[in-house]
Amino acid sequence: MMNIILFGPPGSGKGTQAVKIVEKYNLLHISTGDLFRYEMGNDTELGVLAKSYISKGELVPDDVTIGMLKNKVDANPDVKGYIFDGFPRNIYQSEALDRILEEKGHSVNALLQLDVDDEEIVKRILNRGKTSGRSDDNDESIIRNRISVYNDETAPVYNYYDKSGKSTRVNGIGSLEEIFDRLSQVIDASK
Ligand code: C5P
Ligand code: MG
Repeated sequence: MMNIILFGPPGSGKGTQAVKIVEKYNLLHISTGDLFRYEMGNDTELGVLAKSYISKGELVPDDVTIGMLKNKVDANPDVKGYIFDGFPRNIYQSEALDRILEEKGHSVNALLQLDVDDEEIVKRILNRGKTSGRSDDNDESIIRNRISVYNDETAPVYNYYDKSGKSTRVNGIGSLEEIFDRLSQVIDASK
């Protein structure tokens, strides 16, 4: 199995690149943000709860997010691997992911961090907000809060996986193809 964490700040291109990685490497894309938005779209209990955090740019409580993620992994056992997008978002979620995979005899193979600076992120997300229909993409103060949550809680996940030599930083500025080539090189080297 090949399990990849696609990492980086909001708006760094994780979702876009995940689609291309899935095509090339035939992995299952699990985006916790997309799972939450699906639940919100259907006004489920989980969706209503998630919305109260997402609308402020805060993290949904760990037990909720981890439970949802585990369900998705458990429901799809026969895959060549997973590409995790938007998860883990803190150290606690990283430890949970390791346990979930370990129970199945698997592990995280690589964490790829897309490096994009803050001002470029704000620009990209505001631009995405014109068409994404996401309220958290349309308000600069919410976007800045998402970035600060990323810096405080999420960024340490890089070091967590770096301790076992799994983390790599990739320049997230450039054309889609250029960035994809950079990611592919790292994935091929970690196989
Ligand atoms: O990953 P994405 O940027 O699509 O996530 C959108 C929002 O969903 C985040 O800003 C956060 O509020 C919530 N989220 C979360 N925990 C995760 C993933 C997403 O709370 N692991
Ligand atoms: Mg995304």
